[in-house]
Amino acid sequence: MTKKQIILTGDRPTGPLHLGHYVGSLANRVKLQNDYQQFVMLADVQALTDNYEHPEKVRANVLEVALDYLAVGVDPNKSTIFIQSMIPEIAELTIFFLNFVSVARLRRNPTVKNEIVQKGYGDQVSAGFLMYPVSQAADITIVKGTLVPVGEDQAPMIEQTNELVRAFNRTYKTDVLKEAKALIPKISRLPGIDGKAKMSKSLGNAISLSDSADVVAKKVMKMFTDPDHIRVEDPGKIEGNTVFSYLDIFDENKDEVAELKAHYERGGLGDVKVKRRLIDVLNAFLDPIRERREQLIKDPKAVMDIVLKGTQKTREVSAQTMDEVRKAMHLNY
Ligand code: TRP
Repeated sequence: MTKKQIILTGDRPTGPLHLGHYVGSLANRVKLQNDYQQFVMLADVQALTDNYEHPEKVRANVLEVALDYLAVGVDPNKSTIFIQSMIPEIAELTIFFLNFVSVARLRRNPTVKNEIVQKGYGDQVSAGFLMYPVSQAADITIVKGTLVPVGEDQAPMIEQTNELVRAFNRTYKTDVLKEAKALIPKISRLPGIDGKAKMSKSLGNAISLSDSADVVAKKVMKMFTDPDHIRVEDPGKIEGNTVFSYLDIFDENKDEVAELKAHYERGGLGDVKVKRRLIDVLNAFLDPIRERREQLIKDPKAVMDIVLKGTQKTREVSAQTMDEVRKAMHLNY
């Protein structure tokens, strides 16, 4: 089978990947690698835009995230895993793209706007941080990626990418660059264990793919449920109840989950019982991932070799794209 469409996707290596990553994008990547030519990027340059004072942290997490990818089932025989900072062509294309976007437009990017507030940057936001969506557009277009499996918070990035692609192609009368489509799962956001809308390591409400069974059990036991469900015999609420949100996603026995919900709503079903079930479900899901990770971590050099080989391949593809880009711009001296 020929793999026609190209996928480009990736993560900032700032911490271990968690269940939110799995639901938002990893599950899709593992599935889609069979039918698409997939590039998965360790976005260390982007990670530095808000961690430039801690390059050692980013470096350590490049290995962690690579381990997470392989453990979860990203298969190096089907997908190309690579390191962003080792592809100078991305930086080059970013510079050319920057002419096509105003600072005002960058400030309006909803995801960036949120992050600026969250991180308290205000007017002091660095140029590097403000323009990371442009760099992300280069990540995608340098390999001519047309499909990008990501969580919903990344949709504005794909929109900006396509604006740049259109402006570039129009201006230089070319079609070298391709527009991309975000692939966002129907349920793309997993709440944190605290019940907050989004699971995120920085919010301290995440369950990592590499958490031990004990840690998972402790986190589930602390999980937000229905604050008004005080005694076992009280009727409980399902909506906004994190434990049930997780069961909906990870428990394959939908009939039993439906029964549990009905029982919970009637009253007579305690939180601890439901939580015990979720602990079993999550650990059954995570066990094989943890096992693979433990095997892989015994030989970190072999893991880095996989990543470096993928990087080599990505460089070849990127150099080809840049040749075409330079030609379109009359820079092929
Ligand atoms: N912005 C993404 C995140 O924060 C990471 C990323 C960088 C990315 N480059 C990308 C995702 C290209 C998809 C495509 O998680």
